[in-house]
Amino acid sequence: MKREKLKNLIDIKDLSVKEIDDLIKVANDIITHKDKYSKKCEGKILATLFFEPSTRTRLSFESAMLRLGGRVLGFSDANCSSTTKGETLGDTIETVSGYADIIAMRHPKEGAPAVASKRASIPIINAGDGGHNHPTQTLTDLLTISREKGRLDNLTIGLCGDLKFGRTIHSIIGAMSRYKNIKFILISPEELKLPDYTITEVLEKNNIEYIETNDLEKYMSELDILYMTRVQKERFFNEADYLRLKDYYILNKKKLEKAKKDLCIMHPLPRVSEISTDVDDDPRAKYFEQAHNGVYIRMALILKLLEVK
Ligand code: CP
Repeated sequence: MKREKLKNLIDIKDLSVKEIDDLIKVANDIITHKDKYSKKCEGKILATLFFEPSTRTRLSFESAMLRLGGRVLGFSDANCSSTTKGETLGDTIETVSGYADIIAMRHPKEGAPAVASKRASIPIINAGDGGHNHPTQTLTDLLTISREKGRLDNLTIGLCGDLKFGRTIHSIIGAMSRYKNIKFILISPEELKLPDYTITEVLEKNNIEYIETNDLEKYMSELDILYMTRVQKERFFNEADYLRLKDYYILNKKKLEKAKKDLCIMHPLPRVSEISTDVDDDPRAKYFEQAHNGVYIRMALILKLLEVK
């Protein structure tokens, strides 16, 4: 059966593995031949509606559209929008559908982009919804892994930190679980373990090998990828719990002594204290390249959703 054209990107599972691989191919082509793409979106407008703070996602989306020759509008603070007057998300989306050709939105409520997509007459991209999903971060992560390792299969991936609230974690597991011979080492304190439904519905359902541990160094020598995450302060109900857990893991040079020479150290950023700055000049630290790759994969995604050849 022929698959319907992709209208929105709400969840990484909206994309088939082939579509992900094709987006990576286009992103790599953009990196090599930037000029070829500089007018592809002339006359098109991207709206960035950010109901939650962001640096990388919003600015890389805006950079992506500008580098494609399009234009951008939007808000970076819901307090400057009519949401403060009581306007519903649906009404905002229906309105902006008449002002732009595509919307990238971030919202603190899980599922808000899915709700928005029902009211929109233009493509909606989920730029992060609560502790749920962050599919374009995952595309950025996969582009980075494929550029650094030359493959997206046969990898042992350590995911460390806030596996409970970290939406980038939930999305990357959803994506990488579809590639061959992937093993996850899930490193977190007891309180921030991966939610049970991700274990049962994603890992166990797909027979993915995984180990849960609270010890960052125990499996270090086995890892191909170490993906660090920040403890998500904004999702905690209790400040005392956040303060107790925020410095649970601090990756430094010493902890990397047993790591592979070609380990790829990643972090979706922003970093707080979980990677010491003494790691930044280690050639295995790839988190700033990762942030830069976000522009190119978002360019590829905009082209796909706007059906620009
Ligand atoms: N990685 C990421 O989503 O960063 P921002 O919150 O700065 O967009």
